[in-house]
Amino acid sequence: MRDEIDPIQPPPDPTPPRLPGRVVLRPEPEDVYTSLMADMCAHAVGCVRAFGDFHLALSGGSTPLPLYRQLMTDPMARGFPWARTHLWIVDERRVPFEDERSNFGQIRDLLVEHSGIPAEQVHPIRATEPDADLAYERELRETLAWREKGHDRLDFVLLGMGADAHTASLFPRSPALDAGPDRLVVFNAGPRVTPPDRVTMTYRLLNASRFIAVLAVGASKRDTLARVAARSAPAADLPILGIEPLGGELRWYLDFAACAP
Ligand code: 6PG
Repeated sequence: MRDEIDPIQPPPDPTPPRLPGRVVLRPEPEDVYTSLMADMCAHAVGCVRAFGDFHLALSGGSTPLPLYRQLMTDPMARGFPWARTHLWIVDERRVPFEDERSNFGQIRDLLVEHSGIPAEQVHPIRATEPDADLAYERELRETLAWREKGHDRLDFVLLGMGADAHTASLFPRSPALDAGPDRLVVFNAGPRVTPPDRVTMTYRLLNASRFIAVLAVGASKRDTLARVAARSAPAADLPILGIEPLGGELRWYLDFAACAP
């Protein structure tokens, strides 16, 4: 009789999708955030030890918000070297910081105000100003120039991914994809860009980073991740495929729900 009873089997773990770079796959979003937080802390401490400071670029969107909260509250993140961190913004909407769509506005409220990071090391994009792109590019070049040649790049970039596979504010077939080899930050606008207009770091700057983390959790990311893993279209249509670090590391942070069973 015993043999007739079907044991209740947990569903099998999903297979990690074949994405470019390494994949960190965890059961629940909380596990993903904790892994990412631990890697971020380790990199921050390592960079401060090696270079004296840490250049971190953060994205907006809803997915990373729990991570930003956790960074401020989790005892495991207590050793994060905020006093030595420069905080940059990957992309920004052309709205004032007080607008709820402002990436910096959210990051400031959740993180900057509680981190103790020195004000002169916080680098928001003043996206409503007419020369916001060139001004941010200048600020990046001047600040990174304090580093020895070869080390003058961002240390850790956190990216998200939209349903159309955009990352940062690099939307499919949008002008910012063709920013050219010299531009670090550009405006992005027009019919291909989800409003409001944007300012965004370019492939050139992002791909030069020492470490690129892509965070995608939840079932709403599943189809897009599958298309990216299958390389079902060129990078012009799936812009996250244009993320190809030159000498750095690319690591994806995914939960089971984001992956096909
Ligand atoms: C932004 C972003 C963008 C974001 C993706 C994913 O400002 O919108 O920087 O690239 O990471 O759109 O957004 P969600 O996390 O909300 O899904």
